[in-house]
Amino acid sequence: MITGGLFVFVLGDLVTLRAMEPSDADALWRWNHDPEVMRWMDDGYAQSLAQVRQFLQERERNEYTDVLFGIETTADARLIGLIRLHGAEPETGNAELDIYLGEKDSWGRGYATDAVRTACRYGFDKMRLHKVTLTVVAGNDAAQHVYKKVGFVEEGRLREVFRRDGRWHDKLTMGLLEGELT
Ligand SMILES: CC(C)(COP(=O)(O)OP(=O)(O)OC[C@H]1O[C@@H](n2cnc3c(N)ncnc32)[C@H](O)[C@@H]1OP(=O)(O)O)[C@@H](O)C(=O)NCCC(=O)NCCS
Repeated sequence: MITGGLFVFVLGDLVTLRAMEPSDADALWRWNHDPEVMRWMDDGYAQSLAQVRQFLQERERNEYTDVLFGIETTADARLIGLIRLHGAEPETGNAELDIYLGEKDSWGRGYATDAVRTACRYGFDKMRLHKVTLTVVAGNDAAQHVYKKVGFVEEGRLREVFRRDGRWHDKLTMGLLEGELT
């Protein structure tokens, strides 16, 4: 981990995690409008580019309860997605993880695996978390493969909580304990 003034960059093997900038709004808006990227994601209601820009401008600074990182490829400093650790509770040392890579040409190159591993290491080492949890739509095989590769195990199934393509899908809950990261 390299600390530079107010900014902290977290280095993985392939990716660098860094704070999001208002100038990232165009990319974020574009990703949120790509049906392939959003296929297994909760998409909420439509947001204008101006609203996405405002969200990034007015967002509170990163802190224990909500850490949002842009994922950059270290080789060419290109923003490809984002990853977030949120809802951390000091009493339980438990936080939730979300990730998505919006640049589809970056898929299948190990970036998500490295980003999840790096964010979890940050959670355990810096934030002193005990556990990282997440939910994933049962049909999202690629994401589950990534999570299992870094050590997450399936802990439960939420029945029919995600609607896509005119039908309901289950979500799986997965967890990773401190010491299980591979
Ligand atoms: C899911 C996602 C994070 C994966 O990112 P990625 O950079 O392609 O992941 P990686 O390259 O690190 O690893 C992908 C792994 O999944 C495997 N994989 C790809 N498609 C798969 C599929 N349909 N079924 C099973 N495994 C699959 C790859 O072979 C690779 O495994 P390997 O390294 O053992 O060969 C990315 O595609 C994404 O952001 N998708 C859109 C948003 C999303 O679904 N986010 C997750 C929400 S829970």
